[in-house]
This record gives sequence, structure tokens and C-alpha cells, in this order.
Amino acid sequence: MAASCGSAAYVEDDPVSNSSPNPDFSSVLSSRLTRRQSLKQLATWLGACTVGLEQLGDDRSAAAGVPKPEQPLQFRELQRGIDESARVAEGYQWRVLIGWGDPLFADSPAFDVSRQTGATQAKQFGYNCDYIAFLPLPAAEGGAERGLLCVNHEYTDANLMFPGLLTRDDLAAMTREQVEVEMAAMGHSVVAVQRDGSGQWQVDRSSRLNRRLTVSHTPIRISGPAAGHPRLQTKADPTGRNVLGTLNNCGGGVTPWGTLLICEENFNVCFSGAAAGLSEEQTLKRYGIDGPSRFNSAWAKHDERFNIEREPNEPNRFGWVVEFDPRDPDSVPVKRTALGRMKHEGAGVVLNCDGRVVVYCGDDERFEYVYRFVTRGRFDAQDPDAARSLLDDGILSVAKFDDDGSVHWLPLVYGSGPLNSDNGFHSQADVLIETRRAADLLGATPMDRPEDVEPSPVNGRVYVILSNNSKRGTEQTDAANPRAKNVHGHVLELVPPTADAGFDHAADRFEWNVFLRGGNPASASDGADCHVEVTESGWVSCPDNGGFDSRGRLWITTDGASETTGMADGLFVCETTGQDRARTRLFFQGPRGSELSGVCLTPDDRSLFVSVQHPGEEEGSDFQQPSTRWPDFLPDQPPRPGVVLIEHGDGALIGS
Ligand code: FEO
Ligand code: CA
Ligand code: CA
Repeated sequence: MAASCGSAAYVEDDPVSNSSPNPDFSSVLSSRLTRRQSLKQLATWLGACTVGLEQLGDDRSAAAGVPKPEQPLQFRELQRGIDESARVAEGYQWRVLIGWGDPLFADSPAFDVSRQTGATQAKQFGYNCDYIAFLPLPAAEGGAERGLLCVNHEYTDANLMFPGLLTRDDLAAMTREQVEVEMAAMGHSVVAVQRDGSGQWQVDRSSRLNRRLTVSHTPIRISGPAAGHPRLQTKADPTGRNVLGTLNNCGGGVTPWGTLLICEENFNVCFSGAAAGLSEEQTLKRYGIDGPSRFNSAWAKHDERFNIEREPNEPNRFGWVVEFDPRDPDSVPVKRTALGRMKHEGAGVVLNCDGRVVVYCGDDERFEYVYRFVTRGRFDAQDPDAARSLLDDGILSVAKFDDDGSVHWLPLVYGSGPLNSDNGFHSQADVLIETRRAADLLGATPMDRPEDVEPSPVNGRVYVILSNNSKRGTEQTDAANPRAKNVHGHVLELVPPTADAGFDHAADRFEWNVFLRGGNPASASDGADCHVEVTESGWVSCPDNGGFDSRGRLWITTDGASETTGMADGLFVCETTGQDRARTRLFFQGPRGSELSGVCLTPDDRSLFVSVQHPGEEEGSDFQQPSTRWPDFLPDQPPRPGVVLIEHGDGALIGS
């Protein structure tokens, strides 16, 4: 989310919420298969475990023994630049498959930017698309390929969305109708897609699977150890088990049983009010909620549940991972409290070789932490319905990176260590509601904005994408966060130990190494560390999201590069093993003011989807005079965030 990363209109990040004295360490599936295909997915993951066995004994800097991709990356790299439109590498074509305001249902009203209401927006594709999962569906009659695009909508840019709203100072004066549009523009869209007669992917508005999840329309159940706790109870919900809606949905993941995990990230921006003297004062402040919101300050005026002085517990009902079944449009989504409460960036899912399910999470803020959840139960591919409550019971841990190249996973368990009543924790529910403070007490390593934490489906390793941290001082550097004033970000590679059946993602201790450090390798002051053959267009700044193709290549999107490089944010790709390990190349560039996120490929690697989020979000850019009107370039139309589809002109594999 650029709201916390750096496009000009939002130049300053959220204030650092972590004032804990934790020492820096120098001083101390696939989203692509149907549920029916879970067995196949299982085989794929177990195959990855077998690869792990072959890696026994390899060192941390080279992945010896990992099979090389069948075909090296061959595309001609895009030349870096900045434009009002998007650009893609030679031989490829891009188009917007669906964008903000596009009708999602057969009866959706046409987009009219001057007449949007909450009701119309709830029937249209939302704003600021982020995470994308492509879930194949059985072929249509006649054999046409079908699938579901599941897309998160992270936040709103009011000054680009509404006519006449010129500056951030006007936000508090927003009308009820405008706030209702914003509430309906966040959340999630399930979009049925199908190849038409000419083989082109098109949105199928007639599908009964199309769905919008919003914070104003969607009832959601709360489950796990914190469900029903008094700290989750409000006037509207005295049970503490039912909450209206989900918001600020950023990254996500797909479970082996075919459900989707969507993550509530910067939920703090929707709440306003003075925290002083409230029952939840300490917790509100630790999550950055105190005073008027910097982005959605009118919400509290028009809906009192976003006013913490009226409902101090309402924020405790956000910041969770939400699970739902996109193949059942009537399914009730569930907030899984066992996975902790934070600014959840994403949820990287791995089926461990012992059958337990592992979810990796980043808490996207400067000096926050990397987490891992391991289920207590095991996934049984023969009985996927039994998996529906797997994510309610397990161990949440936080990462502590040591200078000997090891990372220790510290369990956040009530009653262990300092997590007891002496420190204000009276149950596991308290530990989960205050995940950040519990992690502070355990001595977790404060990181440079943990965004995606993505396990490779091919080599079994885990990639921690750290976007940047301009606030890190020299005395705060450590080997895992090695640069002061780290404006370019970096990527760590975690290596789980091998066990009899492959990698053990549930182990207490992993090894880690620096996969790459962002920045211009030609500029000594940048302190970059990348492959020697990375070109002047190929170096990465502000890595943010990641995804893998079926051959295990890491695709990286960036957020904030225009602040650090003067160039647009891009989509880069590299191998994770072999001679071209970490040799990043620029494949696609977003329009000015945008970040890219949510990269996702079809299982055959022939179609790539990527979210273009907040085009035109720049200093001085607003509805009347946006810095770009991408993708429509109509005189009265503001820029519209959208999902871009990229394919090769000849139908070749992406990247070949
Ligand atoms: Fe939604 Fe951390 O980006
Ligand atoms: Ca981001
Ligand atoms: Ca992100």
C-alpha cells in the first residue's frame, strides 16, 4: 500500500508504532487449482519436499542440487522509464481485464464516476486491486477454459475518485454518500473469467460465482481463540463473534483445501478518535490508532463504529486473516484469529511434509515482524472438508534473526515466558489481539517493512520481501536489516531444515541469507547487492509483492520506486537457483503513480495477471488534473486501478 510506502501524495509512512526496545540482531499453493485438484496440488507440494531432500548439505548462498528450469529466461528486457501508460517487454501484449467500476454482475450499473453510490459500487469491481489468485474451474460446454480471478481491494484514493475533492485536507468533509462508496470499494472481488471464441480471457458477468466482499455489506464470522472474547464485543455484536465486513485487503494465499485467505492490512486508517483514557488505549496506540485518520477520517463521522471513542473494541475486530470459499457465493467468510492480529500483508501457505499446514505472514510497517503459523492438525487430502477448521488451532510464532545465519521461531503462547498476567495477558485471546506487543516481549527482530513472505513451490525455500525503511538508524542495523536509511529494500531467503520427507517448515530453527539488496549497483552509496549481470533497467527498488511461476521463478513487483529512482514501479523476474539466481530483469512497467502487486500466472504459464494499484497517485495529482488518466485516457475520466493481463503475441510461455 503506497499509503504507507511513498507515492508523493502519501510521502510519509505511517508513524512507527513499535517503540519496544527489542535489540537488533547485531546486539543479540498454489493459487491455481480447484478443490477437486487438491490431490494434485498435494503431489506437487510433496514433490517440492523431494527436491528438498536433494538439497541436503548445500550451502546458504547457492541452491546446489535444485533442478534448473527447463528453459532460461529469454525475453528482451524492457527499458526502464516513466510514462502515463504501461509498457511490457517486446513480443508481449497487455490489456486491462477488469478495472475499478467495471460491472461485475449481469445487473450491475454502468460506471459513472459522477454518480457513484455505495449500492452501485458494491456491484462493480472495487478500487486499488492488490492480491490476485487464479483458480481454474472445469471447462465450459464446448471446452472453453474457465477460472476465477480472486482480487483484493486494498484502499481508496478519495482525491482521485471523487470530483471536486481536491486535497487531503478535505477528507474530513466527505459526505456520507462518498464514504459509502469508499466502504464498498474496499474488500474483495471474485470474478469469473472464460476464454471466448477467439481464445481471449473475458469476464463472465453471468456467472453466479461473481461476488463482492465489502466492509459495509458482508457478514463475517469470527473464529479461533479470540472469538467471543469481551475485547471483541461491541454494541452491535455483544457476542464478539460476528463482524460486518473486511477492509484494507492486501495480500493473500490459497489453502490446500481450495479456500482463499485474504489479509486485513492497514486497518488503522479507517478509525479515528482520541485513544487516551480508553480501555484499549495501549493496544490502539500500538496499532497506530490515535487521533484523526490520515486517509478515511470521515468514516467515524458517518458510522460510529469507526469512532474509537464510541466503540473502542471495534478495531480489535480487524487486522485478521479472513478465510472464505470463492467457489461458494453463499459461504460466510471467517476471521481466523489464531493467525494473529497485525497489519497482515499476505499469507504464504505451505503444506508441510508431515501434513501440517504452515502460513507465513508479514506485518507491513517499519520495524515490525515476520510471523509463521503452524496448524496443530494435519491436512487429509481425502477429507478436505475436515480442513475447514484447521486454521483455528495451532502455534503462531515470530521470527528472531541471529547473526550466525539462523532464524528462530518464537512461539506466541499464553503462559510461556513473559506472556502472562504480569504483562497484562490473561488468555491466548489477549496474546492474539495484542500480537505485536507479545512479539515485542519475546525479542523478535524488527524488520524493514515485511511485505510478502512467499514460499517457493519448487525449491522449498521462503522469500521474505522487505520493502524499505528510511527510518532505520546506523545503530539499528543488523545482518538481516543491514542498511541504515534503507530506501531500496531487500529480500531474504529462508531455508528450512530437511527432514525425512523433505523440508520441515514447522522446525524451530531455519537458516537464512540475503537474496538481494535493492538499489543501483552502479551507485556505491546505494549499497546494492545483486547479480553481476543485472542491467541498468533490471535492478530493483522497493520490492513489495512476489509470486512464482510453475518453474519456480520469482516474480517481484515494486512499490515506491518513483520516489527512489524517478522511474515507474515495475514487475521483475529472476531465477532463485543456478547461475542466474537473483538476476532480476524488468518485464512490465506500470503507469506513473502506480504500484504493481498481486502477480499471478495461470498454471500453464501462458497468462500473467498483475494489479495496477493507484495509478496517478502523485504529489499534485487529483481528480481534476491527474498525472495520468490510465487506462481509458478519456478527458473526464480519472485513472482507474485495474488487473492487467499479459500474454505473448504467439501464445508462448511467459518469460520465454
Ligand atoms: Fe498492501 Fe503492504 O502493501
Ligand atoms: Ca504495497
Ligand atoms: Ca502489498
